[in-house]
Amino acid sequence: MRTLTPLRTVSDADTPRLLTERLTVRVAQPSDVGAIVRYVTANAAFLQPWEPLRPAAYFTAEYWRAQVARDVEDSARDRGVRFFLFDRASHGAEVVGVATFGNVVRGAAQYCTLGYALSEAVQGRGLMCEALEHAAIPYVFNRLRLHRIHATYIPRNERSGGLLRRLGFVVEGYARDYLLINGVWEDHILTALANPYWSARQE
Ligand SMILES: CC(C)(COP(=O)(O)OP(=O)(O)OC[C@H]1O[C@@H](n2cnc3c(N)ncnc32)[C@H](O)[C@@H]1OP(=O)(O)O)[C@@H](O)C(=O)NCCC(=O)NCCS
Repeated sequence: MRTLTPLRTVSDADTPRLLTERLTVRVAQPSDVGAIVRYVTANAAFLQPWEPLRPAAYFTAEYWRAQVARDVEDSARDRGVRFFLFDRASHGAEVVGVATFGNVVRGAAQYCTLGYALSEAVQGRGLMCEALEHAAIPYVFNRLRLHRIHATYIPRNERSGGLLRRLGFVVEGYARDYLLINGVWEDHILTALANPYWSARQE
């Protein structure tokens, strides 16, 4: 893994907005709902094998208006961060992926859980690696000062395993019937990335 430094931090507010070479990586605003619905709808079939079953409501603006409001609240309250990846080539109009850091546990733990997905149209261009390595992970380690990021993948999901390896995630275990994915309890490989430069937040 190369450097863990974001290229530029545009805002220091509770809802982070980060730039990499090809992406804007940020928490969504209400005005993004249309782009999010286009992204989840266009990629519904592609993502289905790797995600929980989605109710019909998941593909509606109403659902995402409420979810975006919850995301802003979660980010402000230190419960997690859902970063959407916006393509800078489209002047930030199109969502091309999402990386969610959830299940934040503080106290002696200081860890969270990472999940991610990219639009089918932009696979294999290094975009998720770019978003995580140059923006999202530095934010989680340097700004949120979490100590570990956990990520899991289904053994047959080679692209996901490859991404985590490139980022330096280390395999820590194997969990049988771990998550209900596409209606089936799937085994997962457990991985984690620790922050070697961790120091406590100023409260
Ligand atoms: C998992 C997922 C995000 C990985 O996407 P990805 O595009 O392979 O991820 P990366 O950003 O790491 O890109 C790496 C690929 O881009 C290629 N690449 C092209 N240009 C590149 C560049 N400038 N920099 C780095 N890699 C580049 C790499 O060679 C590699 O391709 P390869 O695997 O065919 O060798 C994606 O496959 C996905 O959304 N899958 C469905 C949802 C899912 O599985 N989520 C995870 C559940 S655990």
